[in-house]
Amino acid sequence: MTAEHLIRINGNDFSFKPGETILEVARRSSIDIPTLCHLKGATPTGACRICVVEVQGARSLLPSCATPAADNMIVYTESPPVVSARQMILQLLLSSGNHNCAVRGSDGQDWTQFQLNVQRDDGSDELCPVWGDCRLQDLAYRYQVSGEKFAATETPYVMETVNPFIVRDFSRCIQCGRCVQACNEIQVNNAIHFGYRGAGTKIIAAGDRPLKDSDCVFCGECVQACPVGALVEKDARYKVRPWETKKVRTTCSYCGVGCQMYLHVQDNRVVKITGVEDGPPNDGRLCVKGRFGFDFIHSAQRLTTPLIRENGQLREAGWDEALDLVAQKLGEIKKSHGADSIGMLTSARITNEENYIANKFTRAVLKTNNIDHCARL
Ligand code: SF4
Ligand code: SF4
Ligand code: SF4
Ligand code: FES
Repeated sequence: MTAEHLIRINGNDFSFKPGETILEVARRSSIDIPTLCHLKGATPTGACRICVVEVQGARSLLPSCATPAADNMIVYTESPPVVSARQMILQLLLSSGNHNCAVRGSDGQDWTQFQLNVQRDDGSDELCPVWGDCRLQDLAYRYQVSGEKFAATETPYVMETVNPFIVRDFSRCIQCGRCVQACNEIQVNNAIHFGYRGAGTKIIAAGDRPLKDSDCVFCGECVQACPVGALVEKDARYKVRPWETKKVRTTCSYCGVGCQMYLHVQDNRVVKITGVEDGPPNDGRLCVKGRFGFDFIHSAQRLTTPLIRENGQLREAGWDEALDLVAQKLGEIKKSHGADSIGMLTSARITNEENYIANKFTRAVLKTNNIDHCARL
């Protein structure tokens, strides 16, 4: 039997497995340490420092997401030096770029009035599209800081809106690197990277070209990973407030992988789709079809009833009539030309169960082995 490894966090002892970080032990034990750059499943970068903790005996605060737990380590996650460091980091982030949701003082009527104004004026491009759904804003509120302490710095890069799916607003980017890791380490698309240096640092694609001219496949993983309003779904921008939507979990119907997704539903319409994190088979990942290809759901061109072609024209029919006609035609073909004159093509767009039924129908009812599947092409 191996000896138990123990770490003390905020006065309580917790066991850990060698290799686990302080953050992992804390999260497993329901101790909330804030993070911005940390992305589960990717290499810790320690870029934002918001997760710093006080470790007794250490010369400086340490990033909990990148520091392995060690035997007899004594950690404080919300001590005065930790809170003060987080406040400073947040103030610097809020004063860098266009974080107009948190530029005012955080107390008194001014703050309340500002929030009311934001709600009233929602729809203006001046206001952040992720107001109320932003990790940085949440932390500014939690640690009661605004962006006024330091002189504001402007972003030299203009917003990119030239693709159909994603708006890139560099003025809201906090350069946490989550999108880069999501693209390179999680999806392994290698489409975006850090570019330039210092104050000019920017997330770039293909030597600083628009995403549409790069290797980007528009999977949208970067959008899901972005903790602020720098990457936003174009169709949902300024149309969706998270508290006005209902999240409905479902399985993507585009292929047989069975990715788990949330439909964000507002007024009985799907307005956005995100991947379900922390679960198989996709762990939050989606492809371009699963994430962005949902406008067909409410398309007026959708077929809602079977159609029968008569004299070159399609007319609406009931299911019984349509199925009877198919059965009659298949029976006639089989009788006059034999069962092997009929073939069945199935699809990865239907479920395993439906493919199984198609197989049974073809072999047992039609009595032919002429069945194939698009996955073999
Ligand atoms: S990105 Fe977040 S912090 Fe910045 S303006 Fe938008 S809501 Fe506020
Ligand atoms: S949409 Fe996908 S491929 Fe394109 S940059 Fe984002 S993560 Fe990379
Ligand atoms: S675009 Fe978003 S995820 Fe990427 S570095 Fe900027 S803030 Fe982080
Ligand atoms: S979350 Fe740990 S350094 Fe950013």
